[in-house]
Amino acid sequence: MKKYKKNWDSFADYYDWEFDLFCSQQQKDVELWLDLAQEIGDPILELACGSGRITIPLAQAGYRITGLDYSPEMLKMLSNKSAQLKNLTILNSDMVNFQLEDRFKFIFISYSSFQQLLKEKDQIACLKNIHRHLRKDGILAMDIGRKICEGEDITQFKHLYTAFYPEDDSTVSMFTSYKTDRKRMIRYWTDKYLKYYKNGQKETYINQIALRECDLNYMQDLFRLTGFKIIEVYGSFRKDPLISESNNAIYIAKRI
Ligand SMILES: C[S@@+](CC[C@H](N)C(=O)[O-])C[C@H]1O[C@@H](n2cnc3c(N)ncnc32)[C@H](O)[C@@H]1O
Repeated sequence: MKKYKKNWDSFADYYDWEFDLFCSQQQKDVELWLDLAQEIGDPILELACGSGRITIPLAQAGYRITGLDYSPEMLKMLSNKSAQLKNLTILNSDMVNFQLEDRFKFIFISYSSFQQLLKEKDQIACLKNIHRHLRKDGILAMDIGRKICEGEDITQFKHLYTAFYPEDDSTVSMFTSYKTDRKRMIRYWTDKYLKYYKNGQKETYINQIALRECDLNYMQDLFRLTGFKIIEVYGSFRKDPLISESNNAIYIAKRI
């Protein structure tokens, strides 16, 4: 696997492949974002859009959408898949401090990506920045993953899957481990990928990611502090109510 400064850059080639194989629950979120886009309208800004898993279906549905991400390699994947979509704009920037001329009707962050901001000051800066980029009465929606820090740590690599990677005819074995900072409520994953090529060559790649647990009270405080009013909190991509078993909390907040 190629080596870059940012983890997401090194992982970009594998993101869609791994997602399609192992994230069947999360895949159902596309319908929710399409539904919200229909309710709220465009122009839309998706922050941390990655390789365009959600950006592309929204653009294909005809919405004017801007996809922003700080990983050039993830954006390269998006741009390779979307050359013909004239209503899609791609931007390489950080969601904490991006600066655009446009003002949007709808800004959203999917798949727990907001929780990659580990410091409260960055989360607040991001929300204030979103506030600046929304039109009056604009809507912010975020999918916040729950139970991030649940369960015991896994300190020894645990095998999660072995699968065929068709791009280069290799077989990839993935092992995970994680440690939790219970005081800051952050879980740090270290994933190991062993790639076996047909010619007997072997490659090892380590990917690291960390997510911050953001519970309901914490999110309510963040929204209040940054000028948003929560209008709905859903507990699933089908818009079920939030209950203690929900794995996701989907916040719909209005700019005030
Ligand atoms: C789990 S992927 C999600 C991609 C896409 N939203 C999806 O649901 O498939 C997380 C993405 O967040 C991006 N990201 C993380 N921190 C970011 C930041 N501060 N600013 C912009 N993008 C960021 C990464 O580059 C990566 O593409």
